[in-house]
Formats: sequence, C-alpha cells, structure tokens
Amino acid sequence: MAHRDPGPPAGGVDRRQVKDSYLALRRRTRSIFDLLADDAYYERPIALRHPVVFYEGHIPAFTVNSFLKKGLGHPGVHPEFEALFARGIDPEDQAAADAKAIGRWPRRDEVRDYGRRVDAAVLDALESAPVVGDANPVQRRGQGMHTMMEHELLHQETLLYMWHRFDVARKTRPRWAPGPIPGAASAPETRMVRIPAGRATLGAERDAIAFGWDNEFPRHVVDVRAFDIDVHNVTNEAFRAFVDAGGYGAPELWPADAWARQRETGRDHPLFWERSGADWRWRGFFETLPLPSDWPVWVTRDEAAAYARWRGWRLPTEAEFHRAAYGAPDGSERPHPWGKAPPDETRGNFDFRHWDPVPVGSYPAGASAWGVHDLVGNGWEWTSTSFEGFPGFESMASYPEYSADFFDGEHYVLKGASPATGRDLVRRSFRNWFRPGYPYVYAAFRCVRDAG
Ligand code: AVJ
Ligand code: FE
Repeated sequence: MAHRDPGPPAGGVDRRQVKDSYLALRRRTRSIFDLLADDAYYERPIALRHPVVFYEGHIPAFTVNSFLKKGLGHPGVHPEFEALFARGIDPEDQAAADAKAIGRWPRRDEVRDYGRRVDAAVLDALESAPVVGDANPVQRRGQGMHTMMEHELLHQETLLYMWHRFDVARKTRPRWAPGPIPGAASAPETRMVRIPAGRATLGAERDAIAFGWDNEFPRHVVDVRAFDIDVHNVTNEAFRAFVDAGGYGAPELWPADAWARQRETGRDHPLFWERSGADWRWRGFFETLPLPSDWPVWVTRDEAAAYARWRGWRLPTEAEFHRAAYGAPDGSERPHPWGKAPPDETRGNFDFRHWDPVPVGSYPAGASAWGVHDLVGNGWEWTSTSFEGFPGFESMASYPEYSADFFDGEHYVLKGASPATGRDLVRRSFRNWFRPGYPYVYAAFRCVRDAG
C-alpha cells in the first residue's frame, strides 16, 4: 500500500509512524483472534468475564469513545456498539458476573465490519486531525491517541491469558517460531540478596515519559528499609514443597479473607498445574508438559502470600520491588533493571516472544544492579501493596474510570511484565493490578524478609 503524504504536523508526532504502529497493533490483535477455533466465539473462557465476541468489539469501541469522540469531537461510528462494547466486567463473584451477562451478542461479521469502519476513521484522524493539541485535555500530549494504542496492547495480554483457558485442541499454533532463550550461566540457586536501606522513586514526571496512565503520576520518592530478596522467582519445584506439605489445607498460613476464597474455590494447587497420577503437568498455551521444575510458578496473590508465610517470609511492597529492580549500590536509579538500554529480547521474557514461561535466570543481561533476575518478564510480580492512587492522583480525561474504579482495597499492585506484555508497556512507572484471588493472569512472585 502506498503511503499518502503526511498531513499537518501534530505537536512533534510523526503521523506516518503512528499509523504504522496502529496498523501493526491491529494485525497482532487479528492474529490473536485467529489462534482460536471459530466455535469459541460466544464462549466465556473465564466465567467471570464476557465472551470472546465482546473483546473483538470492545477494542474498536473503546477507541471511538476515548480517542475519536472525547479527543476530536467525532460523532462516533455505531452508537449501539459503542455502548454495548464500552466496558469489560470485573465482578467479585459468579452471581455478579451473571447479573451483568448480555443476552444476545451481534454476529461476528457485524463485529468485524465495525472494526474495519473504526480503523478507517482512526487512520483518517491520524492523517489530519489534531491528535496532539490544546483544544482539550484528551489532545494534550496526545493522551487520547496513546490511550487508544496502549489499551489495545493491554488487551492483547488479556486475550492471551483468556485463550490459555481453552483446551489446547481449540487453538492453532501460528507458523512463526518463538524467540531465543539466552540461557542461564548456571543452574539457578535459591538465594537471597541484601538490599540496603535507601530511596525509591515511584511514578514518573509528566514530561519525562511520552505517555503514562493516570496511576503513574505524580512522581514521588519513598524511603525503604533494608531487606533481603529472592534472586529468582519462586519456581514450580520450590512451590511443590509447599503443596506437598499441605499448605493449601493450613488455615494459619492464609489471612481470613484469603482462606474464605480458598475454601470457596476448593482448588488445592496452582491453576496452571494439572494432576497426572502421582505427578504434575504444566498446562501451557498450546500443550501440556511434565511440570518444568525451573519455571516460575504462576499463582494468585493469596497463594503467593501463603507460600511466603510458610517459609517465614513475606511478599515485597511496591517500593521494595522498585528498590530491588531499579536501585543501585551507588544510590542512583535506573530506567530499567539492566540500565538505560531499551527493552529487547535479551533482557527478559516479554513482548510475545514465548507462549509460556522460560526457566528462571534465563536472562543474565536483564539482571538488576543487585543481581536480582527476571524482574521484568516471565510473569508479573505480586506485591503486598494495595492498589491506590499516588498522593496527588488525578484521573485522566481520556478514560477517567481506568484506575479510580479499582481503588477499593480489593486489588493489589503487580510490577514487571509477562511473556504477553508488549514492549511499549515495559517502563518503570507502569503499574498493573488484580484481585488477590484472580488465578488467570500470568503472575509470578518472590519473597522478601526484613534485614535482621
Ligand atoms: C490494567 C490489566 C488491570 O484488564 O482490567 C483494559 C486493563 N482496563 N481495559 C484490566 C484494562 C480497561 C486492566 N488492567
Ligand atoms: Fe478495556
């Protein structure tokens, strides 16, 4: 396809580059939908969430609502769809989910056709509209445009962890091969490293990054006491000792609310494990395999915290994670654990290089200044910090509900990245959050203890 001449300048934005990025995002979303058997379209792989069809409509509808309408005064493309597909659900339990269930969803060709019409409107806007301007807060710093793009990237991860729940027989492996695994220098040790007392910078300065979600501002500095932290994520093998010791049946290891959730699910092993006789298998994206002993275990925060308590340790706070990931012995702080270099496939398992985890310690070039491995990639990391706005928080104009709806004490912060986290989301200030009993997300953990 020949490029048209770029339209008027838009506050330093390279219109052609943004259009290319948008189209690349749309292509990846399409290829993710293509992984799935057609007859899965109206199914809910996660009973608490909408069916597959919702997500194919939601991404373009969100784009219209937050970027075209709010930012550019566009009338919208399909008012009915822009309401139907406006928001996902995050219900506390199945009854709440069923209450929000939609009785009748549109046909797939209608949803796809809607997506194409939205793409045409977006490309048109990216060609000539004031995507970066002063007319309203959504235009400022190109907030609406960035919101649209990062929202799609966030949902690519949502789609993959949802697809993970479908039987492997209902997914088709694409032809492209997975990326390299750089490989550990030696077998991973279970070892802790001392992080001395110091300061950690949380959040970012508005003008220091091209875009951040509302919960990433404002930047502030906190004091962190000395602590010891696991050099590696807790592995399947290490977690197995907890399972074998009856950790899932020991109420003293679980806070009351976690124990109540635990009793309700009755699940007595990580969701990604399957029993196979006396042994365990890992349920991967395209296949199940004998439990890989040196992969990080993916669990809920409830499970992670129970394991930590069983070992006599605890989960890190958000600030401790920052200190371990971005601090350095000389008191400086880095943009990434490994330093200033941009994130690439030598630094960690993120950006869709693998469908599943890889062995812990596979990215020596991604280690932090303290020698802590895999802080970014191979699974988000649970923290003990409840998800709240930073002091001075202000919700964003393009999507005021993004964070504020979840400041309810029922969600916890995760940091880092997973295999399904796009590279553009790999930044120090990015914060993820989920309910403590949510088992579907690609989330690992490590333990800390106060320096004695
Ligand atoms: C930031 C991943 C928790 O999935 O609920 C997508 C991202 N928000 N659409 C979520 C999001 C609205 C959000 N997380
Ligand atoms: Fe969304």
